[in-house]
Amino acid sequence: MNKRKFLKNTLIATTGMTVTPTILLSSCKNEPKKEENMEATPASAATTFTLPEIPYGYTAFPDTIDAMTMEIHHSKHHQGYTNKLNAALEAANISGKTIEEILMMDDLPTAIRNNGGGFYNHSLYWDILTPGGAMSDTFKAKITEDFGSEEAFKQQLADAGSKRFGSGWAWVCQDADKKLHICSTPNQDNPLMKVSERMGTPILGIDVWEHAYYLKYQNKRGEYLQNIINIINWEKVEARMS
Ligand SMILES: [Fe+2]
Repeated sequence: MNKRKFLKNTLIATTGMTVTPTILLSSCKNEPKKEENMEATPASAATTFTLPEIPYGYTAFPDTIDAMTMEIHHSKHHQGYTNKLNAALEAANISGKTIEEILMMDDLPTAIRNNGGGFYNHSLYWDILTPGGAMSDTFKAKITEDFGSEEAFKQQLADAGSKRFGSGWAWVCQDADKKLHICSTPNQDNPLMKVSERMGTPILGIDVWEHAYYLKYQNKRGEYLQNIINIINWEKVEARMS
């Protein structure tokens, strides 16, 4: 799956009117499709985003993430970031941009940095989980080339999450030279942002905020990290590589 598909259910062309699913994005930008009435879109309309659905539901990972955590995480936390992002974009009168373009802007307003990051990060997180996934031989070869071995890759990823002080994310990113690297960001920052210590294109993100694991794991973040690596949709992660 590529970015276009990833964002299919997350971004709508906003006109200040209710839109039907038939005009959900076929591209990343909030540009209306040609058949829409362009004149119906106010010039000042801001970009709005919608909460993506979770195709596998809240009960897909009983041994890894409990259903209550899934539901609260998606319907409360992610929805909250989405709502606040939309409000912040409207206040800033920002329109016509993809979420990636927004996050890569200079001098991101705090509300857009926090809530835009929250929207993007969680959308990626849900998208790269699956009840059952396996690495292709191609992807195994790639991580062996860039990290030494599959085991070293997984350990480095778990370490990035466990060593993150406080709340944040662990990432696998692709550099401009196509090489993969692992990093971590605080809060709802991500490697698309110019404030991040190391920028890159995220292909996998793991939420290490306590709201992602505390009901089942309490203070054992490391156990959550070891387990969540077993429900990664490696096909989608690989598809995100350019
Ligand atoms: Fe979260």
